[in-house]
Amino acid sequence: MHFLITAGPTREPLDPVRFLSNRSSGRMGYALAEAALAAGHAVTLVSGPVALPVPAGANRVRIETAREMFEAVRDAIGGCDVAIFCAAVADYRPVATAEHKLKKSGDRLVLELEPTEDILGSARSVFGFRGYLVGFAAETERLVEHAQGKLMRKGCDLMIANDVARPGIGFDSDENEVILCLPGGSTRALPRQSKKDLARELVAFIASAA
Ligand code: PMT
Repeated sequence: MHFLITAGPTREPLDPVRFLSNRSSGRMGYALAEAALAAGHAVTLVSGPVALPVPAGANRVRIETAREMFEAVRDAIGGCDVAIFCAAVADYRPVATAEHKLKKSGDRLVLELEPTEDILGSARSVFGFRGYLVGFAAETERLVEHAQGKLMRKGCDLMIANDVARPGIGFDSDENEVILCLPGGSTRALPRQSKKDLARELVAFIASAA
């Protein structure tokens, strides 16, 4: 099968040297890419800026902004059987990007933000993707409830609920602990483990369900 995997953060520029972003290291998405390759699948990895080597055999597409990730996914998803959206995409970007470095003044600076493209939410409705669709839900409260809502709204086959309030798992850590949320309301909790081991378990689950 051909897996499309998104990974890492996006960066939304304020000026030539500053941006809005988040703490995603890309480790979870890259571990999924490595696990899918090890299981014999083809992988297109659409990645924000991370400090990780390209998994051998992956077709890595580098992007910076949410708009670039939207375009890269739009161009690649048609040829894929499975799409896993692990990236931490900025939900908002500055309405304007300054041409030159913003100068400091004694006044308050108010930023005007606008919503970015909802890439996962576009998979079915805009890109026409008919394959197995997997999202991650990064939550700090009411984990399963919010993940189930995203599963339904975005037309996913699986939503992986990730508690990002707990130290040691989630963003920028070597380990993770997630709950699989499936259509119909059933859930399955997976134990805390390394992202590499978790990725192997997730790829096996997804490949058998797809
Ligand atoms: O990169 P690591 O340091 O290893 O950390 C891993 C992780 C915590 C980033 C990862 O496990 C994770 O939870 N990824 C999802 C992060 C996220 O942005 O979740 P969300 O609940 O805000 O978004 C829901 C889903 O919509 C996600 O699949 C996301 O990729 C997608 N999305 C979000 C916004 C947007 N504009 N477009 C999207 O496609």
